[in-house]
Amino acid sequence: MSRRIQAPRGTYDVLGEQALARAALEAQARGILERAGYRRIETPAFEATELFARGVGESTDVVQKEMYTLEGEEGQTITLRPEGTAPICRAYMEHGMHKQPQPVKLWYFGAYFRRERPQKGRFRQFWQIGAEAIGSDDPAVDAETIVLLAEILEAAGVRARLRISSLGMPLNRLRYRDKLQEYLRANADRLSEDVVARIELNPLRAFDSDHPGTREVMAGAPRLLDELDREDAEHFAAVLALLDAADLPYDVDTTLVRGLDYYTRTVFEFTSDDLGAQSGVGGGGRYDGLIEQLGGPPTPGMGWAAGVERILLAGSVAHEAAPPLDLFVAFAKPELRGAAFRLAADARRAGHAARLELGGRSLKGQLKQADRAGARYVAILGDDGTSLKDMETGEQQEVETGTVMHHISRVSL
Ligand code: HAM
Repeated sequence: MSRRIQAPRGTYDVLGEQALARAALEAQARGILERAGYRRIETPAFEATELFARGVGESTDVVQKEMYTLEGEEGQTITLRPEGTAPICRAYMEHGMHKQPQPVKLWYFGAYFRRERPQKGRFRQFWQIGAEAIGSDDPAVDAETIVLLAEILEAAGVRARLRISSLGMPLNRLRYRDKLQEYLRANADRLSEDVVARIELNPLRAFDSDHPGTREVMAGAPRLLDELDREDAEHFAAVLALLDAADLPYDVDTTLVRGLDYYTRTVFEFTSDDLGAQSGVGGGGRYDGLIEQLGGPPTPGMGWAAGVERILLAGSVAHEAAPPLDLFVAFAKPELRGAAFRLAADARRAGHAARLELGGRSLKGQLKQADRAGARYVAILGDDGTSLKDMETGEQQEVETGTVMHHISRVSL
């Protein structure tokens, strides 16, 4: 026998209860976001590779190691989208959305792809709920988007902690980088070898080291948050003041790093202890330089994305069971199948949940099936007419086939 084909590593099938929970989460998120003026956007599952290389950043793990890239047309390559922000900025420019009242608020729910090592809460195809507000640098945009994600997580029963920081604008970041490099060089004799080796390339990584000497040095290192220029510092203070006004608790965390290059000013992440190593449920921040980076005019933006799998793992999304079955249509012999088929279709068109026997069962088997499916009524089409059985009371009466709907309407609509 040949080997059975299974779902690719890092992917999964959505079945039964999971499908219901995920639909309920999407509906909850949609309600919260659309009440705040967000409109749905869907972009393609793949884009020109260059969009991510330029948008997300050549030096990020996402672009260097995790993209699924395929051959496109005319020697170009396309990439399965690893994230949604760069594609949405592309769409914003492509559709001239700068002509609409700003900020343009968009939300999405879709599949994303990263070639990562699969583990609990980490997949190669995963889903994100996301929101982007493009065209305003008002700190209230930052605070509002963060509060909306907090609401979605709370509605989904996720307990998460909000960590927040500010990176300032790129020029400020460059100045800070120089200062940090100077500090690291001055203390190089106490740092681990690999931190020393990366002073020029990536000095910020020194904050992640668990080498004891390095940790000691880093405890006294200059922090980006303390080096913000006046405008960036005021922007950040305004964001925090609005979060206070919304009673949303947060920890200012100067060590917060995000894996994507486009962030400016506010960055944040919600983490949950119920998730294990992959504790990030959702995160995002401001990307005031991204649209320019992609060839557009300077346009500020702010947004976040949250992992659907991680929300479902850490939370408890209340969801309804499949809709109850109003009518099961059974028939005594094959010649009556056409009439039964029509009755079931008419009932559905009239808004009832109705099913027809489809498995070639005997009448006895059909009645058992109707019972198992929890049908409220069973219509039995026989040689001498139709009878309607009320499965709750057990009562059975002879009816005209055409009046079945009238009988069941009284109860089920
Ligand atoms: P991100 O932090 O890379 O940000 O991803 C957002 C969320 O997606 C994570 O917090 C996590 O819950 C989920 N996620 C990421 N990778 C995986 C994976 N391999 N398996 C399962 N879940 C995953 C972004 O993608 C930015 N586009 C967010 C953003 C929007 N920033 C501004 N606007």
